[in-house]
Amino acid sequence: MKIMKTSFNRLNMLLLVAMMLWSSLSLFAQDGAANLPGDPELGKKLFNAQCAACHKLDKKLVGPAMAGVTERRSQEWLIKWIRNNAELRASGDRDAIAIYEEYNRSAMPAFPLLSDQDILNILAYTIVGDKPAAAPAADQGAPATGVAQPKEGLNIWVLVALSSFLLVLLLILVKVKNTLKVIKGEEPTSVLEDFSKGVQVAVKNQKLIVFLTIVVSVFLLKELYWGLMSIGVEQGYMPEQPIAFSHKIHAGDNGIDCKYCHYGAEKGKHSNIPSAMLCMNCHTYIQEGPKYGTKEIDKIYAAVGFDRESNSYIPGYEQKPVKWVRVHNLPDLAYFNHAQHVNVAGLECQTCHGPVQEMEVLYQYSELTMGWCINCHRETEINVENGYYKDLHDKLKEKYKSKKVTAEMIGGLECGKCHY
Ligand code: HEC
Ligand code: HEC
Ligand code: HEC
Ligand code: HEC
Ligand code: HEC
Ligand code: HEC
Repeated sequence: MKIMKTSFNRLNMLLLVAMMLWSSLSLFAQDGAANLPGDPELGKKLFNAQCAACHKLDKKLVGPAMAGVTERRSQEWLIKWIRNNAELRASGDRDAIAIYEEYNRSAMPAFPLLSDQDILNILAYTIVGDKPAAAPAADQGAPATGVAQPKEGLNIWVLVALSSFLLVLLLILVKVKNTLKVIKGEEPTSVLEDFSKGVQVAVKNQKLIVFLTIVVSVFLLKELYWGLMSIGVEQGYMPEQPIAFSHKIHAGDNGIDCKYCHYGAEKGKHSNIPSAMLCMNCHTYIQEGPKYGTKEIDKIYAAVGFDRESNSYIPGYEQKPVKWVRVHNLPDLAYFNHAQHVNVAGLECQTCHGPVQEMEVLYQYSELTMGWCINCHRETEINVENGYYKDLHDKLKEKYKSKKVTAEMIGGLECGKCHY
């Protein structure tokens, strides 16, 4: 009889543990979903317009696959990262720095105009994925069907499935126990009675108490850590580039022509970033800046091997290129040529790059999406007096006598012109 009794107590404890697991798991699952009070439909539109050039849900493109990103990262982190990843990195956030290094320092643009709600919508879309109409809003927390699930990582739906499984197990255990009782001629007990008995046994079980204490403290520590990491993100902002180069000082205040430094833009596909030797044309003499004094200019000297004291180059010094961080980055599948736009079409840099001469820290101004290219090709008149392709232009002038000749008319909407 005594043995019978202890084994019943064991069973009670098992029930208790199963129940706690179940409730905490379903809490977690709800937490995950409730964290995303976003509309996946709206999110999808934003994603396609602003992110799809570099991200896909299910596979790596320019940046990582987006499915499951909400399990890798906290919501708070994601909002900061998406709004301005350079700033997050500058705050010293390890994850932000690690992923940036992993992707060879190709900087993702900042999206200062996205509201928190916009970002939550996008995140909801990364969870729900592409589904046929009537997608349940993620905040309902319903185990939706046909969800585009991330391939790796613990997904909240896995948690839901796991916890449902545990619930079923629990009910079966209760059933088994009650059947045993009936066989022995005792009154069956309810789940609630079992629960309170279980609690009584559990508080006497030291191992269980120790285990639970550990779980709770780990959880609290993690929360504390995240709390601490997010303090002071707004402070101590450091520019993202290796040298605090200001376009405002150079192209704005001092009126240096863009093409003095970016001379490649007129001649070829790429607009070059100037080498540190070009900086030395002026900085051999301009040895101090208005804001950073000698600190930033010394970095130019360190790259080219110039000694401030003796005012001369160090003999035999191996020059190190400055590792500028790329801001603009079209996917490889698209072909864009600067010379064609700057020289042939005669467009100003600012048409596409915005008011660069006012930027302390350079940022991507235009969307750089296919829609952006095509809209401009539809609207922009080509410069028929530029002396290039004279024959073609004369024919076009003939053909469209009164109308304006746009880039579209010379084939600017043909897929093959922009995609090889
Ligand atoms: C121009 C390309 C580009 C665009 C556009 C872009 N990203 Fe990224 N994204 C990247 C790259 C590259 C990385 C990898 C980190 C790095 O190199 O800085 C990244 C990383 C991320 C990460 C971190 C993923 C992880 O595993 O931690 C998130 C989240 C993200 N992007 C979301 C977005 C969202 C949302 C948008 C649209 C609003 C967007 N990105 C638009 C290029 C881009
Ligand atoms: C004194 C040299 C200098 C002048 C003048 C200059 N730039 Fe730059 N530019 C740089 C350097 C160095 C970088 C790389 C660091 C950075 O991104 O700030 C750069 C970066 C850029 C980038 C981003 C490249 C990328 O990584 O995608 C653009 C766009 C750009 N410049 C446009 C312009 C325009 C437009 C002007 C004229 C209004 C101009 N620049 C004038 C030196 C110059
Ligand atoms: C055509 C001349 C010229 C060239 C080329 C040039 N600079 Fe400058 N730079 C200036 C002038 C002018 C100032 C401002 C000095 C002042 O106001 O006291 C300046 C200031 C600076 C400062 C100081 C910023 C501060 O606020 O302390 C840095 C850093 C700098 N330049 C970096 C560069 C880099 C990097 C390059 C090459 C990519 C470069 N410069 C090329 C003319 C030039
Ligand atoms: C028609 C739009 C357009 C105009 C005009 C334009 N750019 Fe760009 N620029 C782009 C695009 C698009 C990219 C991204 C190219 C890529 O990633 O391959 C880019 C990239 C750059 C880069 C990064 C290096 C590279 O080539 O990828 C620099 C620097 C730059 N532009 C400078 C300039 C300067 C300076 C001018 C004016 C002389 C200028 N751009 C005019 C659209 C333009
Ligand atoms: C600000 C307006 C503008 C934007 C933005 C723009 N383009 Fe263009 N593009 C033009 C004009 C104008 C021409 C015609 C040049 C000429 O006279 O040949 C042109 C011509 C071209 C051509 C040659 C077409 C032909 O038939 O020879 C290609 C390719 C091209 N652009 C690619 C792109 C790509 C890729 C993008 C986006 C990344 C882009 N353009 C963005 C204005 C623009
Ligand atoms: C004026 C230049 C231009 C023309 C014309 C053009 N594209 Fe694009 N396309 C781009 C650029 C730039 C991108 C990359 C930016 C983006 O994905 O938002 C792109 C992206 C794409 C993508 C997306 C690939 C991905 O990242 O998932 C597809 C598909 C595509 N183009 C197909 C076409 C087809 C089909 C045509 C002809 C009807 C066409 N394009 C005409 C410039 C062009």
